[in-house]
Amino acid sequence: MAGLLPHLFFEHFGPTSFAIEDGGQIIAFLVGFVSQANPQEAYIHFVGVHPAYRAHGLGRKLYQRFFAAVGSRGCRAVRCITSPVNSTSIAFHTRMGFAMEPGDDEVNGVPVARDYDGPGEHRVRFHKALS
Ligand SMILES: CC(C)(COP(=O)(O)OP(=O)(O)OC[C@H]1O[C@@H](n2cnc3c(N)ncnc32)[C@H](O)[C@@H]1OP(=O)(O)O)[C@@H](O)C(=O)NCCC(=O)NCCS
Repeated sequence: MAGLLPHLFFEHFGPTSFAIEDGGQIIAFLVGFVSQANPQEAYIHFVGVHPAYRAHGLGRKLYQRFFAAVGSRGCRAVRCITSPVNSTSIAFHTRMGFAMEPGDDEVNGVPVARDYDGPGEHRVRFHKALS
């Protein structure tokens, strides 16, 4: 997954990206930003929790921290995408209050935008309004 996170994300999106450490080691992180195209929307590019630390609420904590950070910057909604085969991510985002946007196809019973990230790279698109 390192290819999804080139250095620029850490250099330019620091104010809306967060990490959780345990004993000096990063065990969970979220990289997100405010949309340049629509400043009232924010986008979560990647979230990851160390396998040994999953299901302990760290992902939820990072999302809540991000919602507060982008909400204070004027965002009213958050978007993100995931692969239709990532059932953990789909379950997580659903529990975090995200809705799946309508797609032009279906994979494993979920709506996808076909070829969203290139040929054969279908994606589930999530949307959540911030209260
Ligand atoms: C997705 C991921 C970030 C979740 O992090 P986490 O710290 O384990 O999640 P939390 O413990 O905060 O869970 C938050 C909610 O999601 C639910 N959830 C998390 N993993 C789940 C799973 N595998 N199945 C069903 N529900 C799940 C939890 O039950 C919880 O709901 P609740 O609080 O209402 O009970 C983590 O599994 C991960 O790093 N996965 C690999 C990377 C990835 O796929 N990232 C997403 C694509 S960008």
